[in-house]
Amino acid sequence: MEQFDVLVLGGGPGGYLAAERAAHKGLKTALFEKRALGGVCLNEGCIPSKALLNSAKTYVHALHSADYGVTCAGVAIDQQKVIARKNKVVRTLVSGVKAKMKAAGVTVIHAEAVLDGKEGELFRVKAGDEVYTGKNVIIATGSSNAVPPLPGLQENLGGFVLTNREILDLEQLPGSLTVIGGGVIGLEMACYYACVGVKVTVVEMLDHIAGATDLEISKMLQKELENKGVTFLLSHKVLSVAPSAVTVETPEGSKLTLNSDKALLSIGRRANCQGIGLETVGVKADRGIPTDSFCRTNVDGIYAIGDVNGKYMLAHTAYREAEVAVAHILGKPDTMRYHANPSVIYTFPEIGSVGKTEEQCKEKGIDYEVKKLSMMYSGRFVAENEGADGLCKILVDKKRRTVLGVHLIGAYCGEMIWGAAEMLEMSLRVTDARQIIFPHPTVSEIIRETLWEFPD
Ligand code: NAI
Repeated sequence: MEQFDVLVLGGGPGGYLAAERAAHKGLKTALFEKRALGGVCLNEGCIPSKALLNSAKTYVHALHSADYGVTCAGVAIDQQKVIARKNKVVRTLVSGVKAKMKAAGVTVIHAEAVLDGKEGELFRVKAGDEVYTGKNVIIATGSSNAVPPLPGLQENLGGFVLTNREILDLEQLPGSLTVIGGGVIGLEMACYYACVGVKVTVVEMLDHIAGATDLEISKMLQKELENKGVTFLLSHKVLSVAPSAVTVETPEGSKLTLNSDKALLSIGRRANCQGIGLETVGVKADRGIPTDSFCRTNVDGIYAIGDVNGKYMLAHTAYREAEVAVAHILGKPDTMRYHANPSVIYTFPEIGSVGKTEEQCKEKGIDYEVKKLSMMYSGRFVAENEGADGLCKILVDKKRRTVLGVHLIGAYCGEMIWGAAEMLEMSLRVTDARQIIFPHPTVSEIIRETLWEFPD
């Protein structure tokens, strides 16, 4: 029975970063992963979807090359090559994670790990035929695709109905695709498949797409995706599934059957807190494992980071939670703050947002002021994005003059939202933020320009 300082359950972004940070600081660390290192994000989520989306972007650019004075003949999408390249990207990055673990001195155990009570002061974890003990445990077991109890759904999963896993491996393009759920996964995949010529219909039960995104921005995205050929059925709820058919309820209450070659199920994810032995050590869980600002669970010495705590389900949030949990184990001061947690939707145009939306400000009764500028105010945007537009929208606390939220739609927004997050993190006032020098010409200057729209 080998003894460790830290046992990390799950090798996704939260888990592998926690293991690396802990081992770097001299803690004897074991990382348990039953599948591939990198978790859903690297193997069947964030990274492969970005590889696909970039292929679509290249294809669309080639189709519209004449707008830029470039002649391209015989432009076509080769789906098998797209998937092969995506697989190569994933392989490269997974081996990068492996190399990092090795360099940091993390013991990687390729097996399913289950908590198994305590041995004196130490926590026990079973993996395969072995038992490991540790002073601390970091649970980073992630989340799984939510599968609601809809008639016909279970029987058609993996065949007609795909999840985020299979949709990234289709070597033959379907003629048509019904996307169930107009959230982040649904929209990114709708964007890819529509751009490469698939007839895409998105069914969303809410009256808007993109969940909690600022409504004005989500409406702009909807229009852009409609221009790419996506049909949206909003306020439509999925009732049942049959081979090649998804039946939905219309806002008027009648039934409508949508026929397509494939369907994608993307209606959210559920924290993986079942079957990992939480009850053997007394960790409480509900829809996720509740944690405090140090990422501690209700049991001393056990932490929960990433999707499994049910808070944000974003890889970058998991990274930060990993650092906070390890800092707490080391007795260093660090706490989790979520108010400046950015989010990105990698459709084209991209959405980058951080902080409060206009709807949230209204709901909370916050006295705010809003300013907006079209992306056409950015020289680089105009030079590089023929015929496109976008928006920068900034919300400011009317009395304190601090930045409350920044919401962007347009090319490169995902790359520049971190700067806006920094403004929120540092509680910058409009006058402080204006003093930042932005490089010119960049699209990010749109943030600076919008800040100057506010009165002093
Ligand atoms: P989501 O929560 O983003 O969206 C699910 C959507 O499905 C919601 O709009 C919901 O109203 C709708 N829905 C639920 N039940 C329905 C029904 N019966 N009929 C029609 N619509 C229904 O979940 P999604 O897209 O599956 O993503 C899962 C997680 O992965 C999210 O937590 C997200 O943060 C993360 N993710 C993040 C990405 C990013 O940061 N760019 C990319 C992909 C995923």
